[in-house]
Amino acid sequence: VVETPLRLARTREELAEALGSLRAEGRALALVPTMGSLHSGHLSLVELAGGLADRVAVSVFVNPLQFGPGEDLSRYPRSLEADVERARDRGAWLVFAPPEEEMYPGGPPVVRVVPGALGERLCGARRPGHFQGVLTVVARLFGLFRPEVAVFGRKDFQQAVLVRRMVRDLEMGVRIAVGPLVREADGLAMSSRNAYLNPEERRMAPDLFRALQAADEAFRGGERRGAALAAIVRERVEGHPIFRLQYAEAVDPDTLDPVGEAKVGDVLAVAAFVGGTRLIDNVVLGSAQADPTGP
Ligand code: PAF
Repeated sequence: VVETPLRLARTREELAEALGSLRAEGRALALVPTMGSLHSGHLSLVELAGGLADRVAVSVFVNPLQFGPGEDLSRYPRSLEADVERARDRGAWLVFAPPEEEMYPGGPPVVRVVPGALGERLCGARRPGHFQGVLTVVARLFGLFRPEVAVFGRKDFQQAVLVRRMVRDLEMGVRIAVGPLVREADGLAMSSRNAYLNPEERRMAPDLFRALQAADEAFRGGERRGAALAAIVRERVEGHPIFRLQYAEAVDPDTLDPVGEAKVGDVLAVAAFVGGTRLIDNVVLGSAQADPTGP
């Protein structure tokens, strides 16, 4: 990535102007879509993007379409100034942070992207409309930016699967890269929502990852039954003082179907509430990703 001052675009016009000069220079663009409140997980995606294109753009938009009634849209953390600094430090060329009326000038879009069966599993089964909102805004961002490549994090595993599938099914012509899940030193998966946890919840929250690790260890020890691996996670989470389990499943990473016989590369995914905070996490079975000190 070439050293240039970071541009902040708040409007579609400012974005179009910046993209015009980029295209005139014949440079390839990588987009990292985010909802802001950037942490080291996001920043690792910015770095990854820097290796895949000439310039990196980060979008910061808390997308109302993907929040259900009673979810945390109004309290979702917002920190644009710090986000701009952090993105700049990791070599981003542009941050696009539109207000809602710039993102959806005619009001909420009437035509939306339907995620289909893949969107009805796991998180999709518990958050109706969520992935329709995600895919619709991602499609819109692809239309606005026309990036060569877009980078998503493995923490939101189902989202990454759905975006890949959307690009394939709708011939969107964007390469999708998925960056690693980044953890705090104690193993908790990084998430903007971790800011909601009180000190006691924060102290115990890494137990969600420990439950996944216990199942991964069983897998490494020879347990291959998907249902048994999921049960290890379920029991630990259900028996825990702070968690309310939503789901624990061992799934195929492409189809998201629960696996009967698990193999290396299948994904063990979990979602649980801690008070009013919903946490998700996953491990790739048999991979170094299960190690908090790993990539
Ligand atoms: O992963 C997120 O932060 C969001 O779901 C995304 C992809 C930016 C769409 O709003």
